[in-house]
Amino acid sequence: MVLLPEVILEAVNVEFAFPGGARALKGVSLQIFQSKKTAIIGPNGAGKTTLFQHFNGILRPDGGKIRFAGRDISYQHASLLNLRKNVGLVFQDPDTQLFAGNVQQEISFGPLNLGLSKEEVRCRVEQVMSALEIEELKDKPTHYLSYGMKKRVALAAVLAMQPLVLICDEPTSWLDSRQTRRIVDFFQKINGQGVTIIFSTHDVDLAYTWADYIYVMKEGAVIESGAPENIFQNEALLKEAELTRPWLVDIGQILKKMGYLPRETSLPRTKEELYHNLMDGVCPR
Ligand SMILES: Nc1ncnc2c1ncn2[C@@H]1O[C@H](COP(=O)(O)OP(=O)(O)OP(=O)(O)O)[C@@H](O)[C@H]1O
Ligand SMILES: [Mg+2]
Repeated sequence: MVLLPEVILEAVNVEFAFPGGARALKGVSLQIFQSKKTAIIGPNGAGKTTLFQHFNGILRPDGGKIRFAGRDISYQHASLLNLRKNVGLVFQDPDTQLFAGNVQQEISFGPLNLGLSKEEVRCRVEQVMSALEIEELKDKPTHYLSYGMKKRVALAAVLAMQPLVLICDEPTSWLDSRQTRRIVDFFQKINGQGVTIIFSTHDVDLAYTWADYIYVMKEGAVIESGAPENIFQNEALLKEAELTRPWLVDIGQILKKMGYLPRETSLPRTKEELYHNLMDGVCPR
């Protein structure tokens, strides 16, 4: 087994401007810890997608560097292939990721390129299709799918590579609530097996409940980072980053004020935790 450093992925003072365009990243530094779930949040245009495209070498910084597993990444073809085997990126827009004729071919492409046996590829493809409930789409042309279906196929194609680090750019946008739940449960499962997960989202409830650690970006810079409870109780930050408060933070704060939750306890992170705290003999005023 390969022993990996605690910081698996790192951006060190990354600067990037699109040709003839905006300075999208203005000295971004952040660290991603192995086997953790990290959320990157912030308003439209903050630079989240641009940063993700640096993490697997699609974009190359104008200044600063990206480090993976303790080493600066190299932009040689072979090194990039190796990086992308370990760091899988699911694009925000599936139409820019999907290219194969049908769903099965799309999901098989990555594992086939890893040189795996046909049997192993078939097994991986079946596994991810079943996990994401897309078996019935197997023979469908990808361009006939709904946007939400394309999102799930794009995710499946990356998952079939079994990356060490899974980066998902707004994984739940366009998904219905059942598919959102399913994907979050699946992420939870693979995270439990040691996969590091990085995701961007505009869903503050998802970020609050699910992330171990949060980076907040605005205008090409990281403006704050910390545990979800701290991020979402920082009123000045929420205003600056144009974020709303998750409903669990809202209700947790109200229940504390009313004396239904002890002031010294931390806020509930899940609906289940909230019910549990309320039922567990927390006394009314
Ligand atoms: N291909 C491009 N060419 C020129 N400018 C771009 C390009 N892609 C992004 N930008 C600019 O870079 C900045 C950061 O964009 P980015 O897509 O990284 O933001 P984001 O945080 O992912 O936003 P969103 O929440 O809308 O997905 C924005 O000012 C955007 O207009
Ligand atoms: Mg984006």
